[in-house]
Amino acid sequence: MIAAKFYRIEDWERFVDIKKELIELKAYRLNLQEMVDKRTEELKLEFEKRVDIERKLTMLEREVSKLERLNVIGQLAAGLGHEVRNPMTTIRGFLQMLQNKTDLVTYKSYFDLMIEEIDRTNSIITDFLSIAKNNPTVRRRQCLNQLLTNLFPLIQADAFSQGKKCVFEPTDITEVEIDPNEVTQLVLNFARNGFEAMPLEGCLTIKTFMDGEIAVLSIKDEGKGINNEHISKLGTPFFTTKENGTGLGLPMCYSIADRHNALIEFKTGTDGTTFLVRFPQPPE
Ligand SMILES: Nc1ncnc2c1ncn2[C@@H]1O[C@H](COP(=O)(O)OP(=O)(O)OP(=O)(O)O)[C@@H](O)[C@H]1O
Ligand SMILES: [Mg+2]
Repeated sequence: MIAAKFYRIEDWERFVDIKKELIELKAYRLNLQEMVDKRTEELKLEFEKRVDIERKLTMLEREVSKLERLNVIGQLAAGLGHEVRNPMTTIRGFLQMLQNKTDLVTYKSYFDLMIEEIDRTNSIITDFLSIAKNNPTVRRRQCLNQLLTNLFPLIQADAFSQGKKCVFEPTDITEVEIDPNEVTQLVLNFARNGFEAMPLEGCLTIKTFMDGEIAVLSIKDEGKGINNEHISKLGTPFFTTKENGTGLGLPMCYSIADRHNALIEFKTGTDGTTFLVRFPQPPE
């Protein structure tokens, strides 16, 4: 309360004016504060959106460079694979013939081993060629949940044999256009990586859900996650951190996803890794 005496009417009027101005300024300050708060909130949201966009952009750039690398390697592989396979078939044939000779029977176990190794090499070449595959896949509209339901017992058996667990949590999703053989291969590769990353009793969770118009397949493990320095190498053929790995599982997944116009994303941390495959809505 201002206690003041005014001897002149002008002073009184001036006092009233100042009071009015003060009230207006206070209201203005309040308004300004509200505007600042609102704008701060908006900027925060914009910042979050920007971080999200940049994260997606980095992921897409990584994907594009991976696909470019795959393309070059793929073209080389296609030629090389065929050239290597023919002489291998000849060697395998001779080994099989010699294996049955009575005077070589003492070496039977060696022949078995050599044939096994040739078959293993052949299967690596098959995997590698499947990355290079350029011809369009035979795709048809189908329910991904149905495919996963059929496949799940196989994954479960795989889990059981390694002392691990797995669960399947489908939700209603739209049909997608897929090549069932290829998508089966993709799911098995992700699941196998998940099991290999987890300790005993670890649980693999396979889910399907809709994200807007996109049907998403998610495969989550309870492993230790992927090291930062390995992240940029994921999907490069022959990149492996496993003693017996060939490093062809993920390149195959990326290549299959690419043929389906699907996008692979992953989240990784010390509590595990989740791979997401986002299938586009099939054309009407
Ligand atoms: N779920 C996961 N958790 C942790 N690391 C992973 C996971 N998936 C992939 N990786 C890492 O990525 C590397 C490459 O995986 P990829 O499946 O291509 O090859 P691989 O599993 O090593 O061999 P294979 O050819 O037998 O699949 C792995 O060696 C591993 O280091
Ligand atoms: Mg693998």
